[in-house]
Parts: sequence; C-alpha cells; structure tokens
Amino acid sequence: MLQRPHVSHVLDRVLVLEMVRVTEAAAVAASKWIGRGDNDSADAAAVEAMRAALNELPFDGTVVIGEGERDEAPMLYIGEKVGSAQDSGPKIDIALDPLEGTTITAQAGPNALAVLAIAEEGGLLHAPDVYMEKLAVGPGYPLGTIDLSRSTSENIRAVAAAKGVEPGDIIACVLDRPRHEALIAELRALGCGVKLIPDGDVAGVIAVTDPENIVDIYLGSGGAPEGVLAAAALRCVGGQMQGRLVFRNDHEVARAHRWGITDLNRIYSLEDMASGDCIFAATGVTDGSLLSGVHRGKSCITTESIVMRASSGTVRRVTAEHHKWEG
Ligand code: FBP
Repeated sequence: MLQRPHVSHVLDRVLVLEMVRVTEAAAVAASKWIGRGDNDSADAAAVEAMRAALNELPFDGTVVIGEGERDEAPMLYIGEKVGSAQDSGPKIDIALDPLEGTTITAQAGPNALAVLAIAEEGGLLHAPDVYMEKLAVGPGYPLGTIDLSRSTSENIRAVAAAKGVEPGDIIACVLDRPRHEALIAELRALGCGVKLIPDGDVAGVIAVTDPENIVDIYLGSGGAPEGVLAAAALRCVGGQMQGRLVFRNDHEVARAHRWGITDLNRIYSLEDMASGDCIFAATGVTDGSLLSGVHRGKSCITTESIVMRASSGTVRRVTAEHHKWEG
C-alpha cells in the first residue's frame, strides 16, 4: 500500500501557492459578471472554475464548508470529495466560498473575493449555514480583551483601554443590516466610529488585522461559513475572534444537530473554528480594502491574491499577470 505523504509537509511545500491558482481561477471566472446584475451567473462561474482547479490538485480533499448541503448545491456541496489523489494523497479539509459577495459582484461594489481555507482533516469547524455572531480584533491585544459573553459597551471599553484611547476613538466595522440597528445605536452612543459595509464580512473581519485600515474591531452577525473562513485567516495573521451560532427557527436547529452540534449557545474561539496548521487564500474579484480586484486589460488579466499559513505565520501577496488566460 502506498504511504500517504505527511499532510503538514504537503501543506507547506506543495499547496501554499497552488491555493492561489484555485482562488485566481474562481475570481477570474466571476469577474466576467462584475456589474451585470446577475448574482446567480457570477456565483455559478466561480463555483465551476474553483471546482475544476481543485480537482487538478494531488490531494484527497473533502469540502466541509461549501455551497450548501448535497440536495441543494450541485457542486462543491458539503461532503463532496475533490482532488486528483483520492487514494494516495494527503487528507485535507476545505472551507470555501468561490464568490464571497455575489451581490457586490453583480453591482460592481467593493470587496468581493474568491476565498478558500484548507487544514488537516478535522481542523475546520463544520459550521452549518446559519448566522454567526462575530467579534474580532487584530493582533497586539492581550488575550481575553474581547469576549462575546460581555456586552458591546464592555467590549469597546476593554479594547479602548488596551489600546490606550477613549471608547469614542474606537472604529467598529459592522454589516449594514436592519438587524444591527441596536448594535449600531449602542456604538454611536459610545461615540465610536462605525464603518458600515454592504456585504462581505470575510474582508470585514480581516480588516481588523490590517494596520493600514482604520477599523479596530468587527462586530455583528453574518454567515457562519464566512466566520470559519475569517477565523482561518486570523489564525495565520494573528488577532482574536469569537463566534456564536445564531438560530432563527427549528429548521436551523435541526441542521445544527445534523452537524453534531449539541450546545447551541457555545462560544467558539479562533482555535475552535480553525485548529492546527491551515492555509487561507483569497483573490480579489472587485477592488477592495484587502485586495485589488480582477482587471481585464487589453492584453492581459491581472489578479491580486493573498495566501497565508498558520504554522509559519507567512503572509504572501501575489500579483499575477495572465497573458494567455482563455475566457
Ligand atoms: P454571499 O456571497 O453569499 O452573498 O454572502 C455575502 C455576505 O455579505 C457575507 O459576507 C455575510 O457573511 C453574509 O452575506 C451576511 O448575510 P445576510 O446578507 O443575510 O445578512
């Protein structure tokens, strides 16, 4: 019987840059739909391209966070096996969002990404497709500065104290949604700046780690799968994040039970969501705070990607010119 290669070695030497090829493929495919007002076609193009690129790679991959459950997603559904070495390759778990920000793409807004995280088998939280309350800060804060069991005001005061500023000096990033009305009012009552984003909370959470970004803290609820993807990025680049699943009805609770989740109020730490060695990769689809989007020039297509690895703490930015890209 063939000996499977050690997963960590493969993550390091083989897969880091290959991940960028995968997110580039999805981003370029989606870019044809920027500003076309057609969410479904943009998403379908990204999904198809990401799946084809994943199937080129020499691993035994399993999608643990994907486009939905098997009966509702034709491709990249949860549990789908991908990779060209199912019998002999290293076992890899994959969380993916081929197009994070379908509406953004359709409307040519900012911060749409093609995103992927991979880890050794069992390294990523199998989050059901429900909402997750998210709280995140960048690197440099003492562990425990943020805590989802405390109120928003308490968290803001703790972050301000750790930063050595007044609560009113803190800038928070929040998804612009009616469900966040009370949260935004509480932040404004503290005097905080609030950066409202229309969509795309993977980039929103990652922004707290960027010293050039004005945002200090991310708060509010968004997709749980996107929460795990953002957690994988923070595991690589540093920072703190907590998440708590939000259930709106019995159907969502049943979904969580199918995923083996019994404690519905559990607060997940960064390590609960992404543990061990992991890689996070993203390519910009539309221009944004994290990455430039796909630019289709006269003679070539340019892409900007980021790829990071938890065990080495390496963050690579990859700008590529694709002179012979077909399509
Ligand atoms: P899609 O790419 O699936 O459209 O997700 C965009 C997004 O803004 C995520 O970044 C976020 O987690 C989620 O939608 C928020 O959900 P909702 O739009 O229901 O508030």
